[in-house]
Parts: sequence; structure tokens; C-alpha cells
Amino acid sequence: MARQRSKWICQQCGFSQSGWAGRCPECGAWNSLVETVEKSNNSKRKTLKPGKIYRSSEVKISERGRIKTGIGELDNVLGGGLVAGMAVLVAGEPGIGKSTLLTQVAMANPGVLYVCGEESASQVVLRVKRLEAIIHKTRTPGFLLFESTNTDEIESEVEKLKPGLVIVDSIQTLTTQDLAGTAGSVGQVRECAHRLTLLAKRLDIPVFLVGHVTKEGNIAGPAVLMHVVDTVLWFEGERGQALRLVRAVKNRFGPTDETGVFEMTETGLSGVANPSRMLLAERMEKVPGSVVSVVLEGTRPMLVEIQALTVSTQSPLPRRVATGIDFSRLQTLVAVLMARVGLHLGNVDIFVNVTGGIKLADRGVDLAICLAIASAFLARSLPADVAAVGEVGLMGEVRKVTGLERRVKEAKKMGYKVASAESGRSVAAAVKKLLTN
Ligand code: TYD
Ligand code: MG
Repeated sequence: MARQRSKWICQQCGFSQSGWAGRCPECGAWNSLVETVEKSNNSKRKTLKPGKIYRSSEVKISERGRIKTGIGELDNVLGGGLVAGMAVLVAGEPGIGKSTLLTQVAMANPGVLYVCGEESASQVVLRVKRLEAIIHKTRTPGFLLFESTNTDEIESEVEKLKPGLVIVDSIQTLTTQDLAGTAGSVGQVRECAHRLTLLAKRLDIPVFLVGHVTKEGNIAGPAVLMHVVDTVLWFEGERGQALRLVRAVKNRFGPTDETGVFEMTETGLSGVANPSRMLLAERMEKVPGSVVSVVLEGTRPMLVEIQALTVSTQSPLPRRVATGIDFSRLQTLVAVLMARVGLHLGNVDIFVNVTGGIKLADRGVDLAICLAIASAFLARSLPADVAAVGEVGLMGEVRKVTGLERRVKEAKKMGYKVASAESGRSVAAAVKKLLTN
């Protein structure tokens, strides 16, 4: 196999040498050498368009509109659909539903080339059979399947076929002959993604790349990929639960704060029009420790249930367990409850959980977390129709949050009244006023 010259370049200091080493001989950084195709090679030049200078008033804006994927929630996240030449990374843990979603895209659109590097064509077709139950209405004559893990071969096949859309599942299985590294190595992942992105631009074809992420979310793959592609969609959810959120964490062609909500069913992913109803479906009302809040996922308000449990312990280091919220945020809020509300939480283990398996970064749930812990600890419940919204400061004050109007409206639609900074200035006042039962 003719291999072009490659170098190992330190990602910290730029030092380069011809072979791998665990530690950079120049700066001493560990695991920082990444195999890279040498700049002088011709194949890379071939893939680049020559640079061009434009006058702003003369630049033509592409008249071609958005290309709909046929899946409403996905189109929303993308900012209205795909754009010609757009490279989209779909990242998420294994088993979360990336292949399912993209198979649905392949089934709903004409002219799709699905590169299956991970599965065999028959495995993909088995999934198609399963999904047909819901998609047969929009079914097209079928899509092309290409079993290959060779980027060079994929490039030439795409040039030949000129499909309307390319799906590559997954980028971690691809290699190019120009590098010696194995599939999934940083060098291979970066180079293959770079080439496919350039290919998308050159041929004006949108490309979806699947990228796996580990539980910690920090595998080299997607981290280096994020810089290469135009858009990054992050798949979230717990495997045992049905809810899946797809967030746009980067989007060169649209908003980055949109979130698509899906439900994983027996017959594929279906869009959820009313996530609040789904998230509150199993809620037990008037139970100490359960508080409803309204979060904003992008521009979309959703009602969520925060649950807390407090158990007395003899341990000098009581446990704090956070599921779905940031651990240090939980510690901060417990400190506020102790210092500003006067709750003696020093001898209790505290567990906080967001139901539905979603992860919340919205500070608007602070008040609900505080009330849930206080409610569990004091064994008193909130009125069943109250949703708590507000950020909590270190002085124990409740602060305003963005999009309050939208949150109040969604709460009202679901039959809840919102308790926020407007109705109580401090956490202590809110505890006194709301924990009455
Ligand atoms: P998959 O899309 O293969 O995950 P990924 O490509 O992100 O690794 O999803 C696999 C899981 O989804 C698997 O546990 C089975 C489940 N699933 C359903 O529940 N319903 C379906 O219709 C399909 C196709 C998969
Ligand atoms: Mg898959």
C-alpha cells in the first residue's frame, strides 16, 4: 500500500518527528504526538479550492434554501434544515440512537449514501425494517449503502455518485492510507473528518458524521472533530429511559441554543411535541422532596421534576449525590441552605435527581433544588400546582432568570403557577411560604 509521508506532531509545542513517542522530547508533554499528513503532499493540495478575494457588496448569498431532512425536530435544531456543503457531527455515547436517527434521515430522503463502517449493510437494513412501521408514509425508493472504512475510497465513490446527502457511521472506523495510525486514533479521526468536510464543501453536498463519545464525554475523537465540522449535534439521554435531547452545541449556519426532543420507541425516534407532559407523567404530587421547575432548553421551556432525598448519617463526611445537575452546584446550594436558611444538613446524606435522565445546566432550577432539599429534610410538601423558578445567590437571595415570561406561559399551559423572584426575595422566605403541608 503506497503510504504518503506522515509526521508525528506535538499538539502542545509543534515539535515534529518521524515516529511515535509517548512523551514529547521537546516540551515533555505526555500523549501529545499526533500523526499528521506532511504538508508537502499533493493529495491535500488537490482537495483545496484556490483562495479568492471578494468585495463585500459583490458577494452572492446562496439562493438555495435549507434542505429539509424530513424530521421536524432535527430540522429545528439545525436552524431550519441542512445547508449545501454543511458538515454535521452527530456525537453521543454508544447506543444512544445516532444510527437510528440517521437511518430515519436516509429513509426519508432521496439520493442518500449511507456509509456503514461500523455495521454491515444487512444490519442497517434490519434496522430499516424495524423503522418502516412509522416511516412508510414518507418512504423513498431506498438509499445506497456503502460498506467501507476507507476514506480515500469513500471520497472517490462520492465524487462519482454525487449523492444528495452523505451519512458516515462512524468517523472512528475510518482510515486513510496516508497515515499509519489505526482507526479511531486522533490523527486518523482528524484527517478523515477534514477530508470529508472539504469534500462536502467542494461538491456542495451535506455530510453527517457520527462520532462516539465515552461516558466522560472527553474522548479525543469528538473534541478534535468539533473544530473541523460546521455543526455539532450532541445526543443526550439515559439509555434506560426513552427521552433523548439533541442539542446544537456549535452551528455555523444557525442558532446554537436549539434543542430537539425525541422519544426512543420500539419503532425508532419520534419527535416529542410536549416534553413537559412526558417529563411529569410519573410525578407523585404532594410528596416531600419533589418540586417542579421550568427550564429553558434553548428557546424552549420545559417542565421538569427535581427530586431530593435526605437521610441521616453518622459519617463525618455526609454524601452529596447529584444526578442531572452539576455536583459543585449542589454543594453550593446545600451551603446556602445551611448558612442562609438555617437548615442543619451537616448530618444528612443528600441525593438530588432530575427525572427523565436529562442534564440541566440552567441556573433557573436553583430555587427548585433548594426547595426540594428543604422539603425532603423538613418532611413538608409544596402545593401540587407550584413550579419554582429562580437562580439562587450566595446571600440566599432569589434572582431573576431569562425568559421568565415564556416559562410562566408553559407552566400555565400545564396547570402550574410559577413561584419566582417576584413572589419571594429569598430562599428562606420561599421555604417558609411554600412548605406548608
Ligand atoms: P443506535 O442508533 O444503534 O445507537 P448508536 O448508533 O448511537 O450507537 O441505537 C441503539 C439502541 O436503540 C439499541 O439499544 C436499540 C434501541 N432502538 C430502539 O429502542 N428502537 C428502535 O427502533 C431502534 C432502531 C433502536
Ligand atoms: Mg451506531
